[in-house]
Amino acid sequence: HAHVDHATPEAVDAVIASGHLHPHIPDYETYDAYVAGGGYAALADLRANGNWEKVQETILDAGVRGLGGAGFPSGKKWGFVRAEEGPRYLAVNGDEGEPGTFKDRYYLERIPHLFLEGTLIAAWAVEADRVYLYMRDEYPAVLEILRREIAALETAGIVEPGYIELRRGAGAYICGEESAMIESLEGKRGIPRHRPPYVAQVGVFGRPTLVHNVETLHWVARVCREGPGILKDVEKNGRKGLRSYSVSGRVNAPGVYLLPAGSTIRDVIAAAGGMPEGHTLKAFQPGGPSSGLLPASLDHIALDFDVLQDHGSFIGSAAVVVLSDRDSARDAALNMLRFFEDESCGQCTPCRVGCEKAVKLMQSDRWDRDLLEELSQMMVDASICGLGQAAPNPIRLVMKHFPDEV
Ligand code: NAI
Ligand code: SF4
Repeated sequence: HAHVDHATPEAVDAVIASGHLHPHIPDYETYDAYVAGGGYAALADLRANGNWEKVQETILDAGVRGLGGAGFPSGKKWGFVRAEEGPRYLAVNGDEGEPGTFKDRYYLERIPHLFLEGTLIAAWAVEADRVYLYMRDEYPAVLEILRREIAALETAGIVEPGYIELRRGAGAYICGEESAMIESLEGKRGIPRHRPPYVAQVGVFGRPTLVHNVETLHWVARVCREGPGILKDVEKNGRKGLRSYSVSGRVNAPGVYLLPAGSTIRDVIAAAGGMPEGHTLKAFQPGGPSSGLLPASLDHIALDFDVLQDHGSFIGSAAVVVLSDRDSARDAALNMLRFFEDESCGQCTPCRVGCEKAVKLMQSDRWDRDLLEELSQMMVDASICGLGQAAPNPIRLVMKHFPDEV
């Protein structure tokens, strides 16, 4: 993105000449190429002869779970939404804001139609009257690809013009929280709602709404095209399925790696080209800052839902950041809390004031552990949404695993 605020005409000309006003569009699989490979046949077949409950069973059998981070069984959500009177909506959460997460972008910039077909299958399953795609505005190439390919779907008669509405986020992390995203879609300030009611009952414009993350829908299409075995037949360390790890930090080849869900941090690091010469593993963030930091001594555990819960963390969106012996766990945790302080929507006191106090306490040479623990518990107990409830994870995990640093 080039910003041209209060610029002189010469400065504007220079930016235009540099070509930076237009995003570079990577080579991706277009509508024609996707159809040539059998794309949209599964959707057409379902629309003609499908039984949504059978597809729901297949999705549940495959083990498709919400890949925005919460891991809720996707098929179950379809049942909740179907149980409500129409009109119903589908809202896709493409506001990939968790620091270190870039898997949705990775798939959308390469194979967008798997996601779009999955979207239309889910919309068919819940008989959605409309689909809202809430996309991160910091992904200009993705927005352009989706504009082009939604137009191609309209031209091909696969969707009515306007059935899929592409909306842009505006850079607020909290608008990735599903009810804040819905407020934003409705044109209001993006702040989380209390629940219940769940969005499956009361979502966009008060209507029952199915909310799915981009990658979840990608897998819905793949399972419908290739069968549930592509996920359920993959087994490692007693865990089933595949996970798209976004890997960054002290690795030689940062990127997105599709690995068995039972992978350990050592497997993930190996896939990402190992660590640079002279660095040894010290700690890792398994799934975004909300998942905190875990020590190298936990390098044998599967980075999967449920397993990490037992260690006070979670896999979330599988945003792995690798830290080495040259990094400070304490600084990393402080950085995470600064992020939450910035991104707290400010609606509730435990989070708004709690994050600010935590940052102040964490800046002192020696952390006041009792006070930080008391503050953490209060934030977990009393914050409205996941941001405030998970923000203490980095504090607690660093106090537990890296006591010498604090
Ligand atoms: P959650 O577990 O509360 O809910 C998950 C989903 O299941 C929601 O759609 C919710 O409406 C639905 N659900 C749960 N119980 C239900 C019920 N009884 N009836 C109907 N629907 C029900 O988790 P939440 O707060 O939605 O997500 C938290 C996760 O998001 C964290 O793991 C975090 O890592 C992740 N996250 C991901 C980001 C990204 O960029 N991908 C950004 C920020 C957070
Ligand atoms: Fe807003 Fe934080 Fe409260 Fe969530 S926990 S509603 S982000 S102030």
